[in-house]
Amino acid sequence: MPLLARYIQFSQTGGPEVLTLAETTLLDPGPGEVLIRQTAIGVNFIDTYHRSGLYPLPLPSGIGQEAAGVIEAVGAGVVEFAPGDRVAYAGGGQRAAQGGECGAYASHRLMLANGLVPIPGEIPDEVAAGTLLRGMTAQYLLKRTFPIANGMTVLIHAAAGGVGQIACQWARCLGAKVIGTVGSTAKAELARAWCDHVIDYTQPDWPARVRALTGGRGVPVVYDGVGAATFEGSLDSLALRGTLVSFGNASGAVPPFSPGLLSQKGSLYLTRPTLGHYTATREELLDTAADYFTVVARGDVEANIGQHYPLADAAQAHRDLEARKTTGSTLLVP
Ligand SMILES: NC(=O)c1ccc[n+]([C@@H]2O[C@H](COP(=O)([O-])OP(=O)(O)OC[C@H]3O[C@@H](n4cnc5c(N)ncnc54)[C@H](OP(=O)(O)O)[C@@H]3O)[C@@H](O)[C@H]2O)c1
Repeated sequence: MPLLARYIQFSQTGGPEVLTLAETTLLDPGPGEVLIRQTAIGVNFIDTYHRSGLYPLPLPSGIGQEAAGVIEAVGAGVVEFAPGDRVAYAGGGQRAAQGGECGAYASHRLMLANGLVPIPGEIPDEVAAGTLLRGMTAQYLLKRTFPIANGMTVLIHAAAGGVGQIACQWARCLGAKVIGTVGSTAKAELARAWCDHVIDYTQPDWPARVRALTGGRGVPVVYDGVGAATFEGSLDSLALRGTLVSFGNASGAVPPFSPGLLSQKGSLYLTRPTLGHYTATREELLDTAADYFTVVARGDVEANIGQHYPLADAAQAHRDLEARKTTGSTLLVP
């Protein structure tokens, strides 16, 4: 039965004001697809890159990567899921462009079943919707991009943010001492709960503080989702042959530089990973999600939803995220 879905769309790139509420008709799920009634939607920094045009999308477009909900109907050939199952997704499962396509910011959505993960009984929809993308990101960064070893001291930027909160807690569970950075006194108060040391990186010469905390050596790894504003300081915080894991652009994209810089600063390594490449196969996706849900269910990582907005207020959610007003993860409620 055709169904009217509410969703957020944009027809031109720009500020949060380009996001508007619209309606679209969803048809029955096709082969390999399911229809999801969404109960909670995650707002991620990548959504702002799509909206601003930093990561271009064909327009007009829906927006959003992450949500949770209940399957209402399944298409031909879907055997892994059935109506009534609770599922979540973070990036995967988009259908090829066709009528009625919308992003995750929607009341209902048609998705390919092979991009979905089951939500374990002990994980609430809100936690899955608001933190699966960030939690899977923390999983691959800390366990696969630069695996943390027991006793290591690591630097994690934006420690009060969505990825930051999860990554700091998980890094400690893996035996690391965590130095976290934040941009305000209020966020420093918060981040002290999951960091061994908190540094305000709006203060000058914060890399000297990292060195002071590591006996002058620097850290073996920096996990940096802030980008342009922290790039040089991150390199200056690394030990000889250390690794910069540059995984985001919250302050803007890192500008071009000469590889010689890595040599001057101590024969450093640089990688620029992305979640999709670490969850490229069905097995990787399911294992990464299951690993994250396990640490949350055990209580090792507390997945904090910092703020909720109605779906229609998606623009305000973007404004607050970009103005550094948010902590933890951000949810839209359809
Ligand atoms: N590569 C991947 O696979 C992947 C996956 C997920 C997320 N990411 C990236 O990870 C980063 C964190 O994502 P998130 O969704 O969890 O966001 P978030 O950390 O909750 O929000 C970004 C934080 O960055 C800090 N920041 C520093 N300078 C900023 C500036 N000029 N403008 C805005 N924020 C600034 C702010 O914290 P302070 O106020 O404390 O400075 C802000 O709260 C983003 O860059 C995102 O793109 C990458």
